[in-house]
Amino acid sequence: MARRMSLTRALQQVLHSWQSAGLDHWPRAAPLPQAAPEAESIDNASGAPESHVALPPAPSHSVESPELMARKSTAAARLELPVIAMAPEATQPGTREKRLAALAARVATCTRCQELASTRQKTVFGVGNPQARVMFIGEAPGADEDEQGEPFVGRAGQLLNKIITACGWTREEIYICNILRCRPPGNRLPEATEAHHCREYLNAQIAIVDPEFIVCWGTCASQNLLGSEETIGKMRGRFYTHGRAKVLCTYHPSYLLRNPEAKKPVWEDMKFLLGEMGLKVPE
Ligand code: URA
Repeated sequence: MARRMSLTRALQQVLHSWQSAGLDHWPRAAPLPQAAPEAESIDNASGAPESHVALPPAPSHSVESPELMARKSTAAARLELPVIAMAPEATQPGTREKRLAALAARVATCTRCQELASTRQKTVFGVGNPQARVMFIGEAPGADEDEQGEPFVGRAGQLLNKIITACGWTREEIYICNILRCRPPGNRLPEATEAHHCREYLNAQIAIVDPEFIVCWGTCASQNLLGSEETIGKMRGRFYTHGRAKVLCTYHPSYLLRNPEAKKPVWEDMKFLLGEMGLKVPE
């Protein structure tokens, strides 16, 4: 009996440390469809020719491996970050537009990350449809975004726009934000503490928009949202869940600019998403 109690306590501590590190749900994997649609170039939609080299196929297993779960617990325990409170804007009355505006106003004066707050030109909160079915989450603002105060407006954003168009959408009908709302100097990777500071805002944006689907663009967004340390190559190709949202992870548009051969698997991922959404999957 005494032994069973101590195991329970140990389990509670592990769960608490995961929660402290921002793991506020249990990501669940769904399998890939058996017959995936034929992949084609994202650039085909815009008429630009592109040659493709096939990347390694996405993993076909449908559940998280014990190895991934073990890595999650180690990472969370190492961080020892405080529990993230739910932002009041997420639950207060009012339209989604008003609640997002109130949250954006608070973000605009945020100084939780001293370095970012003292070097930014503008905070980059998020844009798009507060009723969007799909939310895109990127990494962090770059120079162009920092200057304009809007996510994905630089070169990576232009490529993202092409992907949006190829899917048959407009930028205005989806919701776009990032893990961070301030530009890391020199576009360095976001620190774990910075992502943690910004997590309250991200959680609130997800709670307010309440999307059915989330696309995590790149390793930073995927690992942070899902509390994983797995590589993007292993995370793509299946759906996870975050709250009620189905989450798809794929390569970041900036990565595609450097590695055009990765456009093909991204297009496969987008067609997988469209199919899951019950939308027309382009030929
Ligand atoms: N611009 C953004 O807003 N986010 C990214 O992740 C990259 C560029």
